[in-house]
Amino acid sequence: MTLVPSIGPTGEEIQAHRGASALAPENTIAAFRTAAEQGAKWVELDVALSMDGKLIVIHDDSVDRTSSGSGSLGELTGEQIASFDAGSWFDPRFAGERIPTLAETLVALGELGLSANVEIKQHKHHKSLDQLVEAVQADISHRAPGTKIMISSFDPAALTAMHKLEPDLEMAMLWGRPPEDWAEQLAAIPATTIHMHFKALSIGMLEETTKRGIKVRAWTCNDPVQLVSFWGAGLGGVITDNPKLFLG
Ligand code: G3P
Ligand code: CA
Repeated sequence: MTLVPSIGPTGEEIQAHRGASALAPENTIAAFRTAAEQGAKWVELDVALSMDGKLIVIHDDSVDRTSSGSGSLGELTGEQIASFDAGSWFDPRFAGERIPTLAETLVALGELGLSANVEIKQHKHHKSLDQLVEAVQADISHRAPGTKIMISSFDPAALTAMHKLEPDLEMAMLWGRPPEDWAEQLAAIPATTIHMHFKALSIGMLEETTKRGIKVRAWTCNDPVQLVSFWGAGLGGVITDNPKLFLG
């Protein structure tokens, strides 16, 4: 009998990018619900502070692209942000969807049985890194028992500050293309994981990260064929707008 090796990720290795953002408005409860309906176990989401210090789930530093509102997060209160329609821009059938806070999102994720990769966004309007990471810590402390949390950021200082508060959480350094001296840079950051753009993956780097016990996930890939050769070489996960494509 010939054994055919399985190629492709298991459910735990797939994270829905901003929720199932190919099918529902990004970073909304609808996108997280769609990810769960598809069978995803993890969602990736972005967080930043409003003017009044509420942790908001949103990618940009303004609400313009993804809602009916306008303005910078740094000039809007949490209440104002919550009043905008965050679904119609994507499709009229999502009218009434809101930009959620992290606290509201974690309640929904608990009900949906989802875990979260919380990407800490550093924006110009943020006055204090401590305020940002303390807000993350306060909100995630209320997560449901079944909701696992990991933290990612393009900002090594955010990972360092977060790690001081939550030393047991998995931390992922986000790079588009990792720098030549990625191993040295990573050693100076409390991160055991690299999240990198899928086009920058190489078998050589995966062999090296595997040897060093470093996990690598690829973002944002919506074509499973692109990753086929990397699973066997140690790729540890994928962040995708459309988990269904990887779940088969
Ligand atoms: O987690 C990787 C990915 O989310 C980083 O890029 O711009 O979608 O936040 P972006
Ligand atoms: Ca992100």
